[in-house]
Amino acid sequence: MYEQVSHAQLNAILDRLSPEVSRADIRHFYTRLGANFYGIHTLFNHLYGQRPDAAERLGDLVERLARAYMDRPEELRYRDMARERDHNWFLSQDLAGMALYCDGFAGDLAGLEACLPYLSELGINLIHVMPILACPPGASDGGYAVSDFRDIDPRAGTLAGLRQLAASLRKRDMLLTLDVVVNHTSDQHEWAQRARAGDQDYQAFYYLFDDREMPDLYEETMPEIFPETAPGNFTWDPTLGKWAMTVFNDYQWDLNYGNPRVLVEMIDIILFWANQGADVVRLDAVAFLWKKIGTQCQNEREAHLILQLMKDCCQVVAPGVLFIAEAIVAPLEIIKYFGEDAIMAKECEIAYNATFMALLWDATATKNAKLLRRGIQNLPAKLDRATWLNYIRCHDDIGLGFDDNDIRASGYEPGPHRRFLVDWLTGGFAGSPARGRPFGVNPRTGDARISGALASLVGLESALEEQDPAAIDRAIEQILLLHGLILSFGGIPLLYYGDEIGTFNDCSFLEDAAKAGDSRWIHRPRIDWERAERRHERGTVEQRLFDGLKRMIAVRKTIPAFADFNNRELLEPEDPRLFAFLRTHPALTSDAVLVVANLGLEPVSLDLPKLCNRGYFQYGQVRDLYTGIIPELAAGQLIMPPSRFYWLTDQRPGAFL
Ligand code: GLC
Ligand code: GLC
Repeated sequence: MYEQVSHAQLNAILDRLSPEVSRADIRHFYTRLGANFYGIHTLFNHLYGQRPDAAERLGDLVERLARAYMDRPEELRYRDMARERDHNWFLSQDLAGMALYCDGFAGDLAGLEACLPYLSELGINLIHVMPILACPPGASDGGYAVSDFRDIDPRAGTLAGLRQLAASLRKRDMLLTLDVVVNHTSDQHEWAQRARAGDQDYQAFYYLFDDREMPDLYEETMPEIFPETAPGNFTWDPTLGKWAMTVFNDYQWDLNYGNPRVLVEMIDIILFWANQGADVVRLDAVAFLWKKIGTQCQNEREAHLILQLMKDCCQVVAPGVLFIAEAIVAPLEIIKYFGEDAIMAKECEIAYNATFMALLWDATATKNAKLLRRGIQNLPAKLDRATWLNYIRCHDDIGLGFDDNDIRASGYEPGPHRRFLVDWLTGGFAGSPARGRPFGVNPRTGDARISGALASLVGLESALEEQDPAAIDRAIEQILLLHGLILSFGGIPLLYYGDEIGTFNDCSFLEDAAKAGDSRWIHRPRIDWERAERRHERGTVEQRLFDGLKRMIAVRKTIPAFADFNNRELLEPEDPRLFAFLRTHPALTSDAVLVVANLGLEPVSLDLPKLCNRGYFQYGQVRDLYTGIIPELAAGQLIMPPSRFYWLTDQRPGAFL
């Protein structure tokens, strides 16, 4: 019944579009729309059906989809078809990503294009270019306060320049990831300006209130995201004479997805960037898309429905384009952003693995894998056609988003344990070489997060300052170990620019009033290309890191068992300092790989036969794929050096299975 209604409606909409569009031109569009329209129609009605303008807005949405399809360059349409045929393409072990700021890494888009050989040298074939859309000068949350969703910031370049970058990347077989900031706009965006000028249609794009009554109700249950720099979730706008909901900074106005116009505009914008050549669209702050009084205004069911709608629409126009969910929320909530109760990913194909990231920092600070193992054990299996984005550092802070039960089960108390982690990572704990900074400290709740560059957090900066060769070696090993885990865990490893040469904290942000209050700027550096040159000098820190990572990436690409098919088995070695898992190729057509890491500071022995319980190991039979060495085994005991990892295969075919 529903289906009949919806198809009748669909045909009416398409008839309106002709003769502008001949059905023949949009054959693929028509087929895909037919396949997805039931979902689109149902979701749309669920969210907006009670509104008098629902049918009109749905018509508008379909029209925008048709136009976006017609605008889609032919080359990208072919790419869509190829990816539809090979629809698990992004689960491959071949991908290795890096997130970077265009200005900090290379000045501007043209500079970035000139730096592509550097990225290729390292083996990177996916880049996430941090926000480069137009944003106001001064404070703009690192580009996450967008003032024009359809233009490149002139400081970065032009739209033509971006298209050229996308074309160069395609020639190199590299993927482009761009942000679409779906949750909010800058208060300088045209929509906000029109709202300020009194246009009620645009006022309805935001959450605006005349007095404190509603804001106070919301505040009862909404947490604060930036308690130090932007306390509360509402900002008084004197021109407008209203309170605007501003969950993040006071100049970022939250969009109101209760209004279907907002959804239609944002879908159109996502498709616009897909058509400029983005292979992957990173959807920012997706947990926040639906606000409801009496809730935390995060992870609401409607936020998921909105993402499903966005995905369904993208399937119609640009099915080769993937979504990344940036949802830095509790472990059991993150996984829902792949889509629930579905075999295929129905929301975002990729999600930030914030759980693994935080657990890795726990293991680094505690020098054991107790919580790491527990957290991974309790990480639910994800959907088949979905994958993690595994990372150690990114442009944001480190949030300690563990499950409290896991903390307890590991023998700690949640409050004191989190405090210990903050103290350790910010160097406040006796003996800690870490140089992080606190971020998001909330004295009211006791919450705190951590900023800092990888090399400064693991103690490389302090070790170099103290000229302590053993500490330098340890920090380098630690950086490689963390990468050894994100590259083998299953999912797309996302390196953070600068880490490949051990870039330290950059304190220059303190001199800029627009940045000084936000310690995340400490780890958003300008690359020192002279230092980067030292990667060619044997024995330098830069060379050891760069070559180590380069080798690791190259080796990863040759290991089919590292493709992500939920093919990871967590193992439980006796010593809590060890973290181990087995990766097997689902078709068993290639060797299994045993990943083992020693997070402690002393050598630890590992009983391989006992651990794997199936293979039998003798000296000379296991090889570490990363270094190529054959570690010595004495009666099956493998000695794991401190701060080291192995990617082990048995030399005999079929072993480990
Ligand atoms: C995302 C971004 C973060 C930004 C926030 C608000 O979490 O990663 O940098 O501050 O959204 O846009
Ligand atoms: C909020 C967002 C998260 C972001 C962080 C930035 O926690 O949920 O996405 O990383 O703010 O500090």
